[in-house]
Amino acid sequence: QRTQVAIIGAGPSGLLLGVLLHQAGIANVILEQRSGDYVLSRIRAGILEQTLTELLDEAGVGARMRREGLVHHGIYLSTQGQRHRIDLSALTGDKSVLVYGQTEVTRDLMEARMAAGLQTLYEVDHVSVHGIESSPSVRYQRGGQSHELHCDFIAGCDGFHGISRTSVPRDAIRTYERIYPFGWLGVLADAPPPAEELVYAQHQRGFALCSMRSRTRVRCYVQCNLSDKVEQWSDERFWAELRCRLDGETAAALQPAPALEKSIAPLRSFVAEPLRFGRLFLAGDAGHIVPPTGAKGLNLAASDVRYLSRGLIEHYRDHSDAGLDSYSEKALRRIWRAERFSWSMTKLMHCFPDIAGFDHKLQQAELEYLLSSRAAQAVLAENYVGLPFED
Ligand code: FAD
Ligand code: DHB
Repeated sequence: QRTQVAIIGAGPSGLLLGVLLHQAGIANVILEQRSGDYVLSRIRAGILEQTLTELLDEAGVGARMRREGLVHHGIYLSTQGQRHRIDLSALTGDKSVLVYGQTEVTRDLMEARMAAGLQTLYEVDHVSVHGIESSPSVRYQRGGQSHELHCDFIAGCDGFHGISRTSVPRDAIRTYERIYPFGWLGVLADAPPPAEELVYAQHQRGFALCSMRSRTRVRCYVQCNLSDKVEQWSDERFWAELRCRLDGETAAALQPAPALEKSIAPLRSFVAEPLRFGRLFLAGDAGHIVPPTGAKGLNLAASDVRYLSRGLIEHYRDHSDAGLDSYSEKALRRIWRAERFSWSMTKLMHCFPDIAGFDHKLQQAELEYLLSSRAAQAVLAENYVGLPFED
């Protein structure tokens, strides 16, 4: 079998790339190790930057998002028993973010792919990449049979635990990593959100976040120990801990409800450099991870895909490799900015078990400065709504 671009992974990166390439008349096949239902059952991000919503519109999959997504013009920071609104729109020349779950983005992309009759091979095993310097192919097994897909390019969109990045020779890649000494316990539940916008809370017992998926569905998180197991967190314990970390106004409006989903995610910063190895390109979580505090993971995946799709389209349409040649460098510049922001938000809002005294006082001073300075709030806001693209 042969295609132009073989895409490994049917998460948001792979699906979005596939739809954008198809629109430009570039043939592509997606190989995914899980089932479609499993991919849709993963509850992850929920905040979309304008750059991502515009890309989804461009891909022709934005209609439901525009109907059902909630436009947010601000966020709350909660600390010392009080919450303070950061007016994102006033601080950024009227930019905003959209609340629309990653699950829904994925579903819309899957449906577009299906409607266009594009091939997505789910539940494939033993995926491996070959010939990335000259004539690439992807080998895989499906239903016990071995197959080989020949192509011009391979897009590694297979997430942090995928095989694309780890297939590259060790001396061709450099990685940068920070692992944080805590995780996030997340709960999805059918209840109205305690505030009309997201509440990010700093508290001595740890960070907490009240987000949402709609006006009747909340997604809330509490900072937890890395060794914690989901079974140790009954619904009662979760809501009590969350309430205790919130300011009075938010806590009073919190309505506990049975968890529809509950999971623990570790926090990590990670960047691989470069993102191109011959005819193999990494995009999304395959190349980098941010801690979730700045809501950047999904948005950054989409920005890689924007650069990569444009590079591939230029290659086929204009016979120019300028976009592909600059992909890694351009994408990495934006990635490091998002890494910086996500790291700084994580440092500002979490309780670090190993810091005390001086560092703790600095953290408090930084938060107080932020809440008293419009300039500091403008820095947060311009990063939160998403930095502009270079082109
Ligand atoms: P993924 O969504 O990971 O997709 C990769 C796909 O590749 C998967 O479908 C996987 O099954 C498939 N795959 C893996 N290995 C192979 C293989 N060998 N062969 C074939 N297919 C393979 N971001 C936020 O902004 N906010 C959040 O709250 C948030 N929460 C998160 C919670 C968790 C538990 C995780 C893991 C991530 C979270 N993120 C969050 C980050 C965000 O969800 C990711 O940045 C986003 O999913 C990246 O999309 P992707 O398509 O690059 O990778
Ligand atoms: C969500 C997750 C985040 O990491 C964040 O910063 C904001 C919202 C969410 O899942 O809704």
